[in-house]
Amino acid sequence: MKASNPAPTGIVVGLDLGTTKTSAVIAEAAGHQVKVIGVGVSPSSGLRRGMVIDVEMTVQAIRKALSEAELMAGVQVQFVYAGISGEHVTSRNSRGVVAISGNGSEVTAVDRERVVDAARAVSVEGGLQVLHVLPQEFSVDDRGGIRDPVGLAGVRLEASVHLVTGAATSVQNITNSIARAGYQATEVVLAPLASGTAVLDDDERDMGVCLIDIGGGTTDVALYLAGSIHHSRVIGLGGQTVTNDVAIGLRTSWSQAERLKCGCGVALAERIERDEMLEVPGVAGRQAQAVPRRHLAEIIEVRMEEILALVRGDLHRLGPGGRPNAGIVLTGGGAQLEGLAELAERVFDLPVRVGQPRRLGGMADRVTHPPFATVLGLVLYGMADQHLGGVPEPSETQSSPRTPWWQSVRDWITDLS
Ligand SMILES: Nc1ncnc2c1ncn2[C@@H]1O[C@H](COP(=O)(O)OP(=O)(O)OP(=O)(O)O)[C@@H](O)[C@H]1O
Ligand SMILES: [Mg+2]
Repeated sequence: MKASNPAPTGIVVGLDLGTTKTSAVIAEAAGHQVKVIGVGVSPSSGLRRGMVIDVEMTVQAIRKALSEAELMAGVQVQFVYAGISGEHVTSRNSRGVVAISGNGSEVTAVDRERVVDAARAVSVEGGLQVLHVLPQEFSVDDRGGIRDPVGLAGVRLEASVHLVTGAATSVQNITNSIARAGYQATEVVLAPLASGTAVLDDDERDMGVCLIDIGGGTTDVALYLAGSIHHSRVIGLGGQTVTNDVAIGLRTSWSQAERLKCGCGVALAERIERDEMLEVPGVAGRQAQAVPRRHLAEIIEVRMEEILALVRGDLHRLGPGGRPNAGIVLTGGGAQLEGLAELAERVFDLPVRVGQPRRLGGMADRVTHPPFATVLGLVLYGMADQHLGGVPEPSETQSSPRTPWWQSVRDWITDLS
């Protein structure tokens, strides 16, 4: 373990084990700001669709990303907030009820804990473990919509929670890889919950918003209604699926397909003139061929539409109450695809924006891009979890400058698991 020169208090580390890249961000709470002081990125090759499949390669990527960030920050760290994704993650909403036991029938912190325990006491299938118990709202007697019931008088206390579970072995593979790299996971956090922390505004969460983080191996979804999370899901399709389609469709290598997708790809085929041509290198010495750029766009559009339609299906299943009135926020590397917001507007018939992670102080510019939403969100989650941070500069956040920024983050990430 790396306890020789432990990081000073006030420092929080985010570690995102993405399918394509492992990224680490070290940040410190500095007066009115969260200041990024170290960043490290390493390509990932030990993960598939968000899950660790090769511990040794994952350990190497963690070491590289964290040591790069440590070198830049000039501190050695030990504890990290790590992200988790993968199709093994499942979620559901649950309710619990208890009788209020406090003096004068006022709800105490113990009652709040008891009611959340009651809500989480649903049977969890063998091999799964609870990752988060996220309170949505409390009711005291017949009064609903309460964020924090402590101090309110009543007889009956009810809680609605969003329960997130994941395969115990997947969690273990992450914590073991981190431990073998010489660090320790303080908490394993659902990746879309972290991404949401970095890119969503309080007003959006209150109105209802659906976050879609399109990564390389997975598409992570988090739906917020009335200020709290109501649905989350990890879909095992992402940017790499699109690249595979392009490689097969255009008969070219994977790396050329990736280059074409990122450099010339568009999510709306109709935007491209029919006569615009691309040169596509052949595989293993075969001749390059000229291909209509529109054909590339068609391949991309079909797959992206499929991914977005899977999310739309989830929203429809929730009924009219599940409509995110503030619309859709796209983030992750896949959100950088040209024309994707327009395609998503058509699929959802809702307003769509691409979510850039909120600006932090320090050297945050390097990571203020959609592929880093998760790692920056992990840092903000960690800061809120440790009650760090001061009052943000008004330019840095859209929430009220009178409220400590972490207060609002804590309100909706408060995890009572
Ligand atoms: N300009 C672009 N156009 C289209 N796709 C892009 C663009 N830039 C990056 N991507 C895609 O984004 C994906 C990587 O995104 P990201 O870094 O968010 O993934 P990750 O976090 O490593 O993976 P995951 O979250 O799925 O585990 C790659 O598939 C890449 O091709
Ligand atoms: Mg990711």
